[in-house]
Amino acid sequence: FKVVVPAHPLISHWVSVLRDRSTPSHAFRSALGELGRLLIYEATRDWLPTVTREIESPVGTAVVESISEKEPIMIVPILRAGLALADLATSILPSTRTFHLGMARDEKTLLPSVYLNKLPDRFPKGCHILLVDPMLATGGTATAAVDLVKERGAEISQIRIISAVAAPPALKKLNQRFPGICVYTGAMDQTVNEKGFIVPGLGDAGDRSYG
Ligand code: PRP
Repeated sequence: FKVVVPAHPLISHWVSVLRDRSTPSHAFRSALGELGRLLIYEATRDWLPTVTREIESPVGTAVVESISEKEPIMIVPILRAGLALADLATSILPSTRTFHLGMARDEKTLLPSVYLNKLPDRFPKGCHILLVDPMLATGGTATAAVDLVKERGAEISQIRIISAVAAPPALKKLNQRFPGICVYTGAMDQTVNEKGFIVPGLGDAGDRSYG
């Protein structure tokens, strides 16, 4: 189990914009997108399928390493706010496919339910999957999402989770259920309150993104 909070001032900056209660909806959404782009950059650093080949530059032959476009990275955004966090993934990854998962947490029980599942019947063998969810609070949503992805043939080693803020209960749950999984997050916070919000966190990411 690996939790990575990449040390980069831009990552801290976008987290600070998200935490600020005075950040308006459009700026919140775009900060999520920027943070997602940086976290995806870090999460794919040692994890992208590359091909080595020769190409002709205007001056000579060069041996180059480039991203294999035959193996798109699978993006699984968890609606709603995962959409904003995954928004710029396609601008840094040369080849992607997106499969939406709509999940909502009950305000009282804090249990997640699935209202949209656009996952493929079967993920291609060996593909790379980024599960994108801004908040890992109690961990119910992310755990259920990983289960759904696994049901469609993925192994834990093929999945990385991207989140804006993560809290101990979620990390504990993910570690217990999926010991090999990797989480890339913008920040780790101390607690989750009785309403299921991360403290200090950034509020309700879905509401703040979409008003
Ligand atoms: C929030 C958040 C996560 C989930 C985290 O979504 O975006 O998906 O709760 O909570 P958990 O770790 O305790 O399961 P919410 O259900 O509010 O939906 P929304 O994104 O549509 O607002």
